[in-house]
Amino acid sequence: MIEVDRDDIEVDEMSAYLTEDLKTEIAHGIEVSRLAGMLARELKLDPEFCHDIEVAGMLHDIGKLRASTYLYGGDDDTLNVEKMRYVRLHAGLGYEVVKAEGYSDRVCEMILHHHENYDGTGYPDNLVGDAIPLGARVLRVCDVFVALTSDRPYRKAFDSKTAVELLIEEVRHFDMKVFLPFQSIVYDEIERKELEGDTQDKLVFHA
Ligand SMILES: [Fe+2]
Repeated sequence: MIEVDRDDIEVDEMSAYLTEDLKTEIAHGIEVSRLAGMLARELKLDPEFCHDIEVAGMLHDIGKLRASTYLYGGDDDTLNVEKMRYVRLHAGLGYEVVKAEGYSDRVCEMILHHHENYDGTGYPDNLVGDAIPLGARVLRVCDVFVALTSDRPYRKAFDSKTAVELLIEEVRHFDMKVFLPFQSIVYDEIERKELEGDTQDKLVFHA
């Protein structure tokens, strides 16, 4: 159990920040879940697998709640070394939470490994390539894309095309068998919006 001191913020102020941060996290989970489900169907995974990916997409960062008083709240958005350590713990903490709640091994494994990179530079286990569960590889690319295309307190959202370009720069982190179908989903959606004259950049993926 992580114990964290954060006495530099008043309780009311803290709870207001927490509420805002949790809203952001929930919205992020919904978006990742939708996009990951869409990508799983594009990959022709069976319906049960697609459903598990959607569930894991929704819950993938639930481990952050176990360290919430440290990770959330306040307006200090710099990731210092200590904060980074807690961030890296959230995958394992999330695994413990969903395991205790009786989710399937497949969902639990996806959550445990959603920060593994295909080249072995991720965490918590530095898994490489196809040793990373497929669902976790799907979540990885969707998670990063949704994060990049969302406003953060310290930066505005990147537009979808720029976000894909940023992902391409880091493509060694992703499984190409997953990344290429992901890219075509995003480009199809961008094209569809352009054809419809929809000028709002934010893509909306449907469950
Ligand atoms: Fe995460």
